[in-house]
Amino acid sequence: MGDAVVILVAAGRGERLGLEVPKAFAWVAGRPLIVHAAASAFESPEVGSVIVAVPPGSEDEARRALEPFGPCDVVVGGETRQASVRAALGSGAASSEILVCHDAARPFASPALFGAVIGAVAGADGAVPVLPFVDTVKRVRDGFVTGTESRDELVVVQTPQAFRAEALRESHARAERDGVELTDDAGALERAGYRVAAVPGEASNFKITTPEDLARAEAIASELARG
Ligand code: CTP
Ligand code: MG
Repeated sequence: MGDAVVILVAAGRGERLGLEVPKAFAWVAGRPLIVHAAASAFESPEVGSVIVAVPPGSEDEARRALEPFGPCDVVVGGETRQASVRAALGSGAASSEILVCHDAARPFASPALFGAVIGAVAGADGAVPVLPFVDTVKRVRDGFVTGTESRDELVVVQTPQAFRAEALRESHARAERDGVELTDDAGALERAGYRVAAVPGEASNFKITTPEDLARAEAIASELARG
């Protein structure tokens, strides 16, 4: 067993999904999203433990759900994703040299993908999974196209994202100091001048956002179960 610590952000409300329960506790293929994500992380030999950030009041439920899979620390998340990562960074359990941030809303990241980003940190300060951008990308202002972007260097970014712990902490502290809100953790490192490597992502590793995504996840899960 390796000793990378995975920060699982699960403290969002899931407003676009629109269920009674927070999104991380929505069920797909017989278990909650948070369990899919944690189980996959623990299956990766490089991962030693998980810190999960949950909405206030969900701590016991999270602990009960994840404890069977491996060592797990539970913290209450914040108002934003970034604040939830910061809450996890404040846990004494975030003590390893490599920290991996992962969205609980991505149930299909494979154990190998955790291994790939953790491995890629050896040559950088962080590593993120990316997929090529397949559609043509344009800029639109006031309803009219103003230009076409070159697609060559554009990618779509996923989690898990792995970091040297020190670089992640410093970048988050800097973003907070500067009052900057970011949608992923690599963004904090980029603006702090750190080097972030790109590794191949996985098409099945999409983020569950809407009810349609949940239906698609259910279909993928039963496909995977059939082999
Ligand atoms: N997240 C978090 N704390 C927040 C907001 C988001 O830990 N304050 C987590 C979510 O639980 C999710 C991931 O960050 O695993 C990606 O966020 P998103 O897909 O936007 O989830 P929600 O914020 O829950 O959904 P919505 O924006 O529809 O409310
Ligand atoms: Mg959100």
